[in-house]
Amino acid sequence: MSRSYPIAVLAGDGIGPEVMTEALKVLEAVASRAGVSFSFNHQLVGGAAIDAAGKALPEATIAACEASDAILFGSVGGPKWEHLPPNEQPERGALLPLRKHFGLFANLRPGICYPALTASSPVRADLVEGGFDVLCVRELTGGLYFGQPKSRETLPDGDIQVIDTMVYKKSEIERIGHVAFKAAQTRGKHVTSVDKANVLTNSVLWRETMIEVAKQYPDVTLAHLYVDNAAMQLIKAPRSFDVLVTENLFGDILSDEMAMIAGSLGMLASASLGRPKGDGLYFGMFEPSGGTAPDIAGKGIANPIAQILSAALLLRFSLGMEKEAAGIEAAVRQVIGNGLRTGDIFTGAPDTRLVNTAEMGAAIVAELP
Ligand code: IPM
Ligand code: MG
Repeated sequence: MSRSYPIAVLAGDGIGPEVMTEALKVLEAVASRAGVSFSFNHQLVGGAAIDAAGKALPEATIAACEASDAILFGSVGGPKWEHLPPNEQPERGALLPLRKHFGLFANLRPGICYPALTASSPVRADLVEGGFDVLCVRELTGGLYFGQPKSRETLPDGDIQVIDTMVYKKSEIERIGHVAFKAAQTRGKHVTSVDKANVLTNSVLWRETMIEVAKQYPDVTLAHLYVDNAAMQLIKAPRSFDVLVTENLFGDILSDEMAMIAGSLGMLASASLGRPKGDGLYFGMFEPSGGTAPDIAGKGIANPIAQILSAALLLRFSLGMEKEAAGIEAAVRQVIGNGLRTGDIFTGAPDTRLVNTAEMGAAIVAELP
């Protein structure tokens, strides 16, 4: 009997289900080549779960995730659920609780601009020539997203006051720092830590701590940028970054910027990891960094690459299937090299061809080693 890996599949809303279909085809093809099997446990999440079960993150979904080696996540949210109270909406009702529940503090977002895709980048060609490869390491369970107190109140004079709180413990900064430095050791050996230490108390501790952590990695160089400057440098000199490490909200913003400069949000995968399980593997949640793209949902034209590359990260980090993960990444590179483009990355350049979601998925399966 071949080894079977339980994977919770949470396709969610918008383009989630259609790009998930392609990722699952890729995983099935990988399984048959590797002589293993994946047992996909499909569960409701987000708006789809609100419609079918009354809430964005049903207990059955959490239980299925707990019983799995990893979560393959699509995307959640959309205009249909925006009238709900904020805490019941798909993002706050499902995605953030999942991150918190499983302690997924380390969010890895590889921003890769393939040399063949530099024309899809909105940045001037000479600035992205040859492409680039930046790994954004975003802290995912702290900061303004989760800090307490959070409140909204009407003051005696009738004005309205809202509070979000930015909280970090030194230990939380240390552990994300180690993730960034360890990743840098396997890549370009350079970490850029992004903060706002000229204003925020949080950032002063962030910077001190990164400097301390860096001492344990003498082979890795460390630079610091204020977040406003980092936003500029990403556009002006994306090739000067290797690993970028930052707190939750800054990472949310900069990773979208990075994805856009790389050519399209539809290309950006992500891995959200907790503590290592001891065998070098991680329980994790793997999802495209882009959203549900309601404008093109259901049309079969979305780019499935971010979802497929997220499946590759799942194999690497949660199942230890490095060879198969690298195989998927190579197949994606090859298909891009062959000129296939979904609408988001199609520029009409010579030797390229516009394809739909299913055609892109099939082409990647065909290129698997
Ligand atoms: C992301 C998303 C989420 C975030 C939203 C949907 C809550 O933008 O994963 O980057 O802000 O973390
Ligand atoms: Mg975001």
